[in-house]
Amino acid sequence: MTIHIGAAPGEIAETVLMPGDPLRAEWAAQTFLENAKCVNRVRGMLGYTGTWKGQRVTIQGSGMGMPSLSIYANELIRDYGAKTLIRIGSCGAMQNSVKIRDVIVAMTASTLSTPSRGIFRELNFAPCADFGLLEKAVTAARGKDCGVHVGGIYSSDVFYDERPDLNEQMVRHGILGVEMEAAELYTLAARHGVRALAVLTVSDHLLTHEALPSEDRERSFGDMVEIALEAAFS
Ligand code: ADE
Repeated sequence: MTIHIGAAPGEIAETVLMPGDPLRAEWAAQTFLENAKCVNRVRGMLGYTGTWKGQRVTIQGSGMGMPSLSIYANELIRDYGAKTLIRIGSCGAMQNSVKIRDVIVAMTASTLSTPSRGIFRELNFAPCADFGLLEKAVTAARGKDCGVHVGGIYSSDVFYDERPDLNEQMVRHGILGVEMEAAELYTLAARHGVRALAVLTVSDHLLTHEALPSEDRERSFGDMVEIALEAAFS
């Protein structure tokens, strides 16, 4: 057990999918895993371990934002030996070519700051995905009935951001979408020599102001979970 994860030693798999929402962790485990067992309930941040096509997988909620993700990713890597961590989450689109329900495979994650900022001081570290996972996720995503985009995303600390000029610069520099966790996940993976990737479903659009109707979310999020599982084990 760690401070935030109640799983016994050995109850967490080497491959961990990390949705922000703990209820989505429960839904994904019940929908995609065999013999899924709840291994964490601490603070309601649900985690499940089961198998997918015979391979052991844990699906552990990360919470929203980089400080929360940092807690879970640190404990999963340092205390439970996680080796492959794939964020599965939602994002807001920042380009007209990106549509609601499309999937973004995040090659890089730009930030203003992460919980790791203090150790880099004046250096602007460039958090990036594991290339092997990225390649496999793109191949898996091309086999699905959804639009796929591969490129840079922005990991923000602020959902209700009141700086329109910052978003404008992100759009201008080709950033595909905004979410709130990937940059710290990529940074921690680099620090500890493990693999990380973020596969994101577009749930809202910052330019058109559209949002994915809640009844459509499950099917779109299902594609994302399958892409993550296929990337981890192919
Ligand atoms: N996650 C989903 N949509 C988002 C948005 N618009 N901003 C930040 N995180 C998000």
